[in-house]
Amino acid sequence: MKPSLLQRYREFLPITDQTPMITMGEGGTPLVKAERIGRDIGASDVYFKMEGCNPTGSFKDRGMVMAIAKALEAGSRFIACASTGNTSASAAAYGAHCGLTTLVLVPKGNIAAGKMAQAIAYGAHVLTVNGNFDRALQLVRELCERYPINLVNSVNPFRLEGQKTAAFEVVDDLGEAPDFLCIPVGNAGNITAYWRGFREYREAGRSSRLPKMMGFQAEGAAPIVAGHPIADPKTIASAIRIGNPASWKGAVAARDESGGRIDAVTDEEILEAYKMLARTEGVFCEPASAASVAGLRKLAREGMDFRGKRVVCVITGSGLKDPDLAQQIADVPLQEVSPNLESIEEAVSTLLRR
Ligand code: F0G
Repeated sequence: MKPSLLQRYREFLPITDQTPMITMGEGGTPLVKAERIGRDIGASDVYFKMEGCNPTGSFKDRGMVMAIAKALEAGSRFIACASTGNTSASAAAYGAHCGLTTLVLVPKGNIAAGKMAQAIAYGAHVLTVNGNFDRALQLVRELCERYPINLVNSVNPFRLEGQKTAAFEVVDDLGEAPDFLCIPVGNAGNITAYWRGFREYREAGRSSRLPKMMGFQAEGAAPIVAGHPIADPKTIASAIRIGNPASWKGAVAARDESGGRIDAVTDEEILEAYKMLARTEGVFCEPASAASVAGLRKLAREGMDFRGKRVVCVITGSGLKDPDLAQQIADVPLQEVSPNLESIEEAVSTLLRR
């Protein structure tokens, strides 16, 4: 059996002899080489860090395993989070695995069907809040101050500790840090965690340099780009529909210290990247994840020179999280056929003639 995430990176994590070394197989996700995008933008290599391959289909499991291990170590029986869907799915899964009571607050009407199904299936108590993510986070923070409930949002410092392992894996796989790391930004925990991971690994002598951190927000939910909170964030990428990110400062530090950028991409650019990833790379991700690739393509279009550069795009979550969207935007209608060969031949005659 491969070592668990907590075992593999133990020396870099806040693990004591009392920390239960739980695992559901998180981490160790593939770094897949892009076939098309690299050529399109003239980079030497573009890779996808396939975080949808984690047990609950998103990168959240890396942070959750660490946060839950520390919650268990502290004797907590009750965990809670606010979420645009992936954190809640992950908390619910690890909560169930460890016999904890899990409470999740999600913004009503703005969470993808697959994520909602996960929280329900894993047996979490799900509250749909008639407000956005920022409000839900504020409320759950207040709740956890009043009651002995362990907050597992990324404001919990152990979450980012776990999430930084993704940067370790990128360096372990490439043998060096990439030139650029492209990543979607919502609550801004992940960009903060990656930057910490790259820095710690360099300090430990595992790499000799640091990547430029390129974060991308959705245009209607781009507070860091605007320089002020957005009261009513809007985007099709519901995972990053966040107007006042908790790790705002961490994201700005990652950008400035690395000489990188935090930019906005439109919903159209996100959807274009989402379709292109699935159809030309075989990578089915959720729209928020496509923001990293949409951003990379935008910068290339604007004339940024990626020649000879190595770029890693973080594909934060699986496309299966949001099946409705995939069907909504499919521009090929499903075609019904009678159950006989003639009917099928007729339906695909143009393909067969080629
Ligand atoms: N991509 C996906 C698929 C996400 O679910 C999230 C955040 C992000 C990117 C952005 O990461 O918040 O660390 O900047 N999802 C959170 C949630 C907010 O509740 O699941 P971030």
